[in-house]
Amino acid sequence: MSTILAIESTCDETAAAVVVNGVQVRSSVVATQFELHRKFRGVVPEIASRAHIERILPVVTESMQQAKIGFDAIDAVAVAHRPGLIGSLLVGVTFAKALAWSIDRPLVGVDHVHAHLYSVVLDSDVQVQFPAVGLVVSGGHTALYVLNSWLEVTLAGSTIDDAVGEAYDKVSAILGLEFPGGPIVDRLAAQGRETIAFPRSYLSRQSLDFSFSGLKTAVLYHVRGVPGKAKREAPIDEQELRDICASFQGACVQTLVRKIERACERFKANSVIVGGGVSANSGLRSALVDFELPVYFPKLNYCTDNAAMIGGLAHQHLSAGRVSDLALEAIPQSGIPRV
Ligand code: KG4
Ligand code: ZN
Repeated sequence: MSTILAIESTCDETAAAVVVNGVQVRSSVVATQFELHRKFRGVVPEIASRAHIERILPVVTESMQQAKIGFDAIDAVAVAHRPGLIGSLLVGVTFAKALAWSIDRPLVGVDHVHAHLYSVVLDSDVQVQFPAVGLVVSGGHTALYVLNSWLEVTLAGSTIDDAVGEAYDKVSAILGLEFPGGPIVDRLAAQGRETIAFPRSYLSRQSLDFSFSGLKTAVLYHVRGVPGKAKREAPIDEQELRDICASFQGACVQTLVRKIERACERFKANSVIVGGGVSANSGLRSALVDFELPVYFPKLNYCTDNAAMIGGLAHQHLSAGRVSDLALEAIPQSGIPRV
């Protein structure tokens, strides 16, 4: 049995959660900062860390109140200590250390990307069949992993340029839509047709890496015209906007699914897990409905950044006796080793 208070502050969400036995989420509070960064169309690191400082105490207090427990009922304090923006990470790590020390409980440092994979079991009775291929698709990460158990994870491939969520956000900007663009482009794509043959970048035949910058540029040229050639005349109407979104989404989804297939074959996987903000994408979910292996997605509220996934994975670390000490560092890079 474990009751873990978890803290997440790696990027632009300040979050805290109370998780029991690694799966039952007693509370999950997320203070999003997206209104602070919207006008910059991206996360401004200094604004993010300042907002974390202001919000972390109210968010942790709220998560304890929603869980209806006191600190005496907490067995460990978990924190996402990598990867992320250094200023943002430092707020969560420092807070978690101070709290763990003051209530005299173990501290558990968790890798945020690893936790995105774990999010598929939260509030569910999913039992993942290992070895599993894991795909993390978010605004900051696009990578494939092989998992032999929840704690034996290796990196099999990653993006060589943009993350897929970043490509969604940039395409949304090109189309004059709001930030973050993923959910908006997804919604419009569902009303459009795949009429434009945007490029799919598979890199070499065996590659498990990703590249999305060529696709993003293809959308830019389609919308604004190719530099040095005649400018596009007609403005984009509503139907074309939807068709561009559907065609872009089709290219993203096809690329992701192809790479999952390659990884499953190479590592003889028994299941697939998908996590991160883009795992909320309706096109990706429907493309994998009839996949040859079981495919697990998180519940929609656990796709984007949250602390419940940190508390869930921390239970696995704690059960294996892997705890951190007060020297735990905030580290900008992920710590998952390459295959
Ligand atoms: O996991 P997350 O909250 O933050 C990072 O760790 O990056 O992911 C945020 C990203 C954003 O780029 C957002 O546009 C994208 O996830 N996103 C989506 C959808 N919902 C969120 N992308 C495509 N389709 C969606 N439905
Ligand atoms: Zn994330």
